[in-house]
Amino acid sequence: MRVIRVSDYEELSLRSADLIASLIILKPDCVLGLATGGTPLGTYRDLIRLYREGRIDFSQVSSVNLDEYRGLKPDDPHSYRYFMDQNLFQNINIDPAHTFVPDGCESDPASACSKYDAIIDRFPLIDLQLLGLGGDGHIGFNEPSDCFIRRTHCVTLKEETIRANSRFFQDKAEVPHQAYTMGIADIMKASRILMIVSGSSKAAILRQVLEGPVTPAVPASVLHLHRNCTVIADEDALQCCDRLCKDSQFILP
Ligand code: GLP
Repeated sequence: MRVIRVSDYEELSLRSADLIASLIILKPDCVLGLATGGTPLGTYRDLIRLYREGRIDFSQVSSVNLDEYRGLKPDDPHSYRYFMDQNLFQNINIDPAHTFVPDGCESDPASACSKYDAIIDRFPLIDLQLLGLGGDGHIGFNEPSDCFIRRTHCVTLKEETIRANSRFFQDKAEVPHQAYTMGIADIMKASRILMIVSGSSKAAILRQVLEGPVTPAVPASVLHLHRNCTVIADEDALQCCDRLCKDSQFILP
């Protein structure tokens, strides 16, 4: 696992957008695994800027998103489909037919999950999977558990996740209690993983991820087992990792 220490959120966004842009330039028909949440917003803003400057072309790119709230329609402003359309897809030249998000309207979880697995399986691989980090260590919506779940599944969200995500809703009561998420095996099958972590609210959990054992109780800890995982984190997020090297880049064994 390679950790890149950056000064702040702006630098983090720039570095992660540059990394994704480099992949698009080298492999114009790449498959991107994309994430929602507050952290990737700056990355998406910078990717849109690079597109408008004519430096990247999304016309052959495909995307597969990590997760979606169960029960929300694509045009619901709180759905992750809507988030992706607003914050990235509508601002670049990606073919909407090549963008995939789990279907939150599919009320039968088994069917929703098997359909999304079939979509993931259409791609030979995900070239780069972008991840944020949940306050309880979740990736996608893979919540802390006693085992890693391999493929797309329906999750009952933890209270902490509902509380954290309520900032995107008018009222906490509006936050759906369930979601469909890509599983850990599919995340780990990506050729490259990029996790971005910003802010002091993530400092304690990031320390557990970077310095603690690999355990499904801290889902992001599984990334230690990936052969090509980069974490970009800012000073605030790394403030509890006092045992780690202070260099701007370091490799964890
Ligand atoms: C949600 C998403 C995750 C994301 C997490 C952290 O729960 N399902 O994919 O990583 O939020 O979000 P933020 O970046 O806003 O802290």
